[in-house]
Amino acid sequence: MNHILVVDDEATIRESLEGILREEGYAVTTTPSGEEAVVLLRDAPYDVLLLDILLPDRDGLDVLNDTRSLAAENQPEVVVISGHGSIETAVRATKLGAFDFLEKPLLLERTLIVVKNAVEARRLRNENLEYKRQLALETTVTGDSVSAKAIRQQIKLMAPTNGRVLIYGESGSGKELIARAIHAESPRHDRVFVELNCAAIPEDFIESELFGYRNSAIPGGPPEKRGTFERADGGTLFLDEVGDMSLKTQARVLRALDEQSFVPVGATQPIRVDARVIAATNKDLEEETAKGNFREDLFYRLNVMPFFVPPLRERKEDIRPLAREFLRSFGREYGRPHIEIAEDAVELLKQYPWPGNVRELKNILERVLILNPQIKRIERRHLPMLVHRRRDNHGDDFSTLQQAREAYEREYILKKIDECQGNMSRAAESLGLERSHMYRKMRTLGINVRE
Ligand SMILES: Nc1ncnc2c1ncn2[C@@H]1O[C@H](COP(=O)(O)OP(=O)(O)OP(=O)(O)O)[C@@H](O)[C@H]1O
Ligand SMILES: [Mg+2]
Repeated sequence: MNHILVVDDEATIRESLEGILREEGYAVTTTPSGEEAVVLLRDAPYDVLLLDILLPDRDGLDVLNDTRSLAAENQPEVVVISGHGSIETAVRATKLGAFDFLEKPLLLERTLIVVKNAVEARRLRNENLEYKRQLALETTVTGDSVSAKAIRQQIKLMAPTNGRVLIYGESGSGKELIARAIHAESPRHDRVFVELNCAAIPEDFIESELFGYRNSAIPGGPPEKRGTFERADGGTLFLDEVGDMSLKTQARVLRALDEQSFVPVGATQPIRVDARVIAATNKDLEEETAKGNFREDLFYRLNVMPFFVPPLRERKEDIRPLAREFLRSFGREYGRPHIEIAEDAVELLKQYPWPGNVRELKNILERVLILNPQIKRIERRHLPMLVHRRRDNHGDDFSTLQQAREAYEREYILKKIDECQGNMSRAAESLGLERSHMYRKMRTLGINVRE
């Protein structure tokens, strides 16, 4: 429900506005005082502020000004009410950012229209803020580690150039995010960012995928199609999973990069394209080149500026800020702001090796939020078994057989409990143990039953 704050020292005006606005389905709060209005605005967000400009205790324009110091998403649209003859002040108010003004005596029809427009304007403004925030988020590399700082630094250095960048990193480590960040900070930022998943180009349609076609090259198909390279003109072309291209595709891509032009299927004239190329791979391309899976000439074309993204397990200081950032954004998405994470839960997250890197962390936190719809704070026990299980298990370097056996037993028991969704009787049964025996075993192995 949209909430409207009415500030006017005349009781009759407050009452009549309150009446007609309630009737229209708005929630209404009224006050005769500018001072109190400011307090109310700090307390809770209002969509629209109907503000008399001549108040006994404060200048209406000052109150208007005060609304500017509220957080952007809490700023109401301000509609100024001016007494007869003070129309110039009202005009000044609109110059100061008021949405519109109403002149006394208030006309019912016009008042309702202005309020409705103000509510709509405020909705659009907030929607816009939200989009901008999402866009900004998608290209922000979060993290406190030395590596994260180096990544941000390197993005800054590479962004202004037109040089080709080849980003290396494990799956989910943030390669695409980095490519988008380079684009967002580059002079091409207001042009397109076109993504091509090289692993998924259909072998039979390479040409038309990449370069498009004209004059319905495909019988009965649409008359023309713009290829990926063509669409990227003026912007950035992101070649994702470039290490998974077939040799046939590699040959075509190489030629297009070399000539910076191509002829769409069925066309007669070549098209020149100016696109900045950023590629990404989770393979060791040098090794692939040595094995003959990747063309050497293409490798050197793409590898002008190599960019290495370390896996998350090598930059564990990033886990806390990343977790907080993801909780903030999921919290907003699910209408659950202010979700926190306990310090010992963060510590547990730091002990997990994160084979799926940042994406895995993000997915796990989203899952925790969905599975625990009530919580405001994520504790250790809310984290999935997977994360608990890897604790204290430092690979295979055990010093005694006893240690190795215990680690294995712990892992095995936890896996069974996980499979039985925490049902201890069923877990004991599938382990072939008495329930009480299983509990004893768990205690000796240091498995916390509650977790
Ligand atoms: N440093 C970071 N700060 C904030 N979000 C990040 C960071 N790194 C990765 N992410 C997020 O993690 C997810 C995975 O990142 P991204 O898609 O860029 O990985 P990738 O390396 O391209 O993975 P893949 O190899 O599987 O394609 C995305 O949602 C991304 O926004
Ligand atoms: Mg990717």
